[in-house]
Amino acid sequence: MAVCKPAFAAAATRAHNPLAMSTTQPRRFLLGVTGGIAAYKSPDLVRRLIERDAEVQVVMSRGAQQFITPLTFQAVSGRPVRTDLWDESAEAAMGHIELARWADEIIVAPATAEFIASLAHGFANDLLSTVCLASRAPIALAPAMNRQMWANPAVQANVRMLQERGIRILGPGSGEQACGDVGAGRMLEPVDIADELFAAHPASGLLSGLKVVVTAGPTREKIDPVRFISNRSSGKMGYAVAEAARNAGAKVILVSGPVQIAAPRGIVRVEVESAEQMLDAVQQHVHDADIFIAAAAVSDYRCGQIACEKIKKTSDTLTLSLARAPDVLATISKRERPPFLVGFAAETENVERNALTKLAAKNLDMIAANKVGDGLAFDKDDNALMVYWQGGKQELSLCSKAALARQLVLVIAERYRQRGDKSEASAAASAISALHVAR
Ligand code: CTP
Repeated sequence: MAVCKPAFAAAATRAHNPLAMSTTQPRRFLLGVTGGIAAYKSPDLVRRLIERDAEVQVVMSRGAQQFITPLTFQAVSGRPVRTDLWDESAEAAMGHIELARWADEIIVAPATAEFIASLAHGFANDLLSTVCLASRAPIALAPAMNRQMWANPAVQANVRMLQERGIRILGPGSGEQACGDVGAGRMLEPVDIADELFAAHPASGLLSGLKVVVTAGPTREKIDPVRFISNRSSGKMGYAVAEAARNAGAKVILVSGPVQIAAPRGIVRVEVESAEQMLDAVQQHVHDADIFIAAAAVSDYRCGQIACEKIKKTSDTLTLSLARAPDVLATISKRERPPFLVGFAAETENVERNALTKLAAKNLDMIAANKVGDGLAFDKDDNALMVYWQGGKQELSLCSKAALARQLVLVIAERYRQRGDKSEASAAASAISALHVAR
């Protein structure tokens, strides 16, 4: 089975997938890493940017290499790291001027006091500072230094000078520092830096302006005050899909069963327990939604009668009488004007046949199917999916759930747009035939 590596996967997807060619180009970030202890967090920033479909080229200063190796960044970015202005072979592949032109945006994280000073005063004494001077791309810095250094008037004057020239300063945050001091000077967390960088371009996503409702996780159906019926869903896939939709610019409402995952930033999370509560929450939010993605593993049955007190072991066997729980997705699909509907099918056998049956039975626009059982899918960090729609299918091969969710959102965006084009065309055709009739 093919295993996709995040960074190469993004490039490969663009090179071979006509679908990806027709969608928004990824934003290209040049990430400068300078010599502070916070450099150990910068590989995570690479991942956070790639998660948002960006391409990342890392340029390290000499100081940065005292804290972390270029190999680490190469592994997470999937690109050779640039470290030296005088490296002939690297310059032959992409010279510093080409690097400066390649970048849509430059982010330096961590940015040391020395780098800030060097940029403020226009020094071109290494590759990173030279690229910064040679590029017309917007520059953002995430400073990281001891609190006394940050408070120093020389540093503050340099920061002001840069801000006046339109350079964004992200942070620094406050808190305990590596040196033991407490105060302002910590580099912002990678996820916050990525959020800041992407918040500046809310309209760049594939799903900009759309409202997406996602269900995730298991549901719990009460048996008595202390017991319930549930399943092995961890919610990881649904959460990854919600985050991918958010990263693509959508307003996301996540209706979640009980899971061990923190609420993602920039997403409204509605917490529910039972299938009935999930249906209520979805109905409250879906009326003006454009897309509904049902990734939750909703209980198909609930207890016919919930015991008011804890059930005691008075007999050798116990029979529970179960009644059907509401089918959230099927209910939404019966609305007069349902949103674009995406279902999930977790199957232990006959994946394609069962998925196609559900696609038709629940009147869905798309269904994402996968095989479960035997240690597959549930509570794992990676997964593979087959996506089906009427007259088509696409395989999304094994990779992390975050990468898989990004690919799934690409397919959803493409199919959503095609459905829109079709309904516009049929509305135009009806209007034309109405005109003919009127004549
Ligand atoms: N679903 C739902 N509400 C339910 C059951 C399922 O919204 N009560 C949704 C799931 O979120 C998923 C899709 O329907 O998107 C398919 O769910 P699945 O449980 O695999 O299929 P069922 O229709 O329940 O069929 P079966 O359990 O018999 O396989």
